[in-house]
Amino acid sequence: MSGSVVCWLNLLLFLQVGAQLRDNIRQQWPVPYRRFDRRPAADSYCEALFPFCPTGDDDGQIPSMSDTDVISVYRLQTPVWEFKYGDLLGKLHIMHDAIGFSSKETGANYTMEWYELFQLGNCTFPQLRPDVFAPFWCNQGAACFFGGIDDTHWSQNGTLEKLGEVTGGQFNDMAQWVQDDNETGIYYETWTVRSDPGPNATAWFESYDCSQFVHRTYRKLSELGAKLSSRSQTNYTKIYLYSGEPSYLGNDSAIFSQPALKNLAMDIRNCVISTS
Ligand SMILES: *[C@@H]1O[C@H](CO)[C@@H](O)[C@H](O)[C@H]1NC(C)=O
Ligand SMILES: *[C@@H]1O[C@H](CO)[C@@H](O)[C@H](O)[C@H]1NC(C)=O
Ligand SMILES: *[C@@H]1O[C@H](CO)[C@@H](O)[C@H](O)[C@H]1NC(C)=O
Ligand SMILES: *[C@@H]1O[C@H](CO)[C@@H](O)[C@H](O)[C@H]1NC(C)=O
Ligand SMILES: *[C@@H]1O[C@H](CO)[C@@H](O)[C@H](O)[C@H]1NC(C)=O
Ligand SMILES: *[C@@H]1O[C@H](CO)[C@@H](O)[C@H](O)[C@H]1NC(C)=O
Ligand SMILES: *[C@@H]1O[C@H](CO)[C@@H](O)[C@H](O)[C@H]1NC(C)=O
Repeated sequence: MSGSVVCWLNLLLFLQVGAQLRDNIRQQWPVPYRRFDRRPAADSYCEALFPFCPTGDDDGQIPSMSDTDVISVYRLQTPVWEFKYGDLLGKLHIMHDAIGFSSKETGANYTMEWYELFQLGNCTFPQLRPDVFAPFWCNQGAACFFGGIDDTHWSQNGTLEKLGEVTGGQFNDMAQWVQDDNETGIYYETWTVRSDPGPNATAWFESYDCSQFVHRTYRKLSELGAKLSSRSQTNYTKIYLYSGEPSYLGNDSAIFSQPALKNLAMDIRNCVISTS
């Protein structure tokens, strides 16, 4: 296990496409999550085993609520099942987090979650493609908004808890923010990388996943004036790696196209082979 963890750490440092790690300016920790102007189309090589957001609107539209409506907000959490993600990730007891909404005026309710377009394993580990020298990631993640809350799914082995209410107007402002967030934050990052397991550790990289999205949304709702509170403590799953201070060695194209870095490039490729 430790061999592969060292391997993965190297990969993270070299291939963290979502992060802005720079060599010549003073490094900021954790490395800020990189925002994009807009979401690119995914590479056609990436193929979802489970289609992304099958019952959501094709264009990701979120229905508009009347300003005077009262919208209840729910915390939704449930374990991710092993069969979906293979042995390694299943054993880690990963929890999935989402947010529910219900409209007082129409009685309609909705679920909103943020997850991987091409399954969690592909976001966690890159792959080697026969025709591409650099390891390749299918690691986009995105927000999915769809009608209905499956009460049984969330409450049977997890949590379905009402956190409070917001106005229709606040909901609509949040919906606009979700669209922007979804266009600019496009890569899923499974790992949290820290200097050590202690409470005062430095975080080198933060994860970017479903629970981070839920937290961003709660923050946005409080900024908009909502009062939400939970009766119970929420535990979130994080997968930690521990390492010394990372240093930036080059981007994808630099490492995998320069003959001088061939050994490094081969080490990284061998890492991918040994862990896939
Ligand atoms: C991603 O993962 C799924 C299963 O977890 C697999 O079916 C699919 O082929 C993988 N690869 C790509 C390129 O999407
Ligand atoms: C977020 O982006 C994905 C990928 O483009 C898209 O399928 C989805 O509908 C978008 N979600 C929202 C809420 O805009
Ligand atoms: C959501 O709506 C469905 C269908 O009306 C209902 O069965 C369910 O209890 C509602 N859930 C919540 C949390 O409002
Ligand atoms: C709850 O957990 C049990 C036992 O692990 C499982 O059989 C059942 O399908 C789960 N229920 C839901 C709604 O996921
Ligand atoms: C963590 O930092 C706090 C405040 O600086 C200090 O009181 C505490 O002893 C530190 N804990 C450890 C385990 O280093
Ligand atoms: C969260 O974790 C704490 C400490 O491990 C535990 O005591 C508590 O029961 C957990 N809460 C839930 C809702 O799982
Ligand atoms: C990769 O880094 C090189 C210099 O190290 C730079 O010229 C190039 O634009 C970078 N490529 C990308 C895609 O960022």
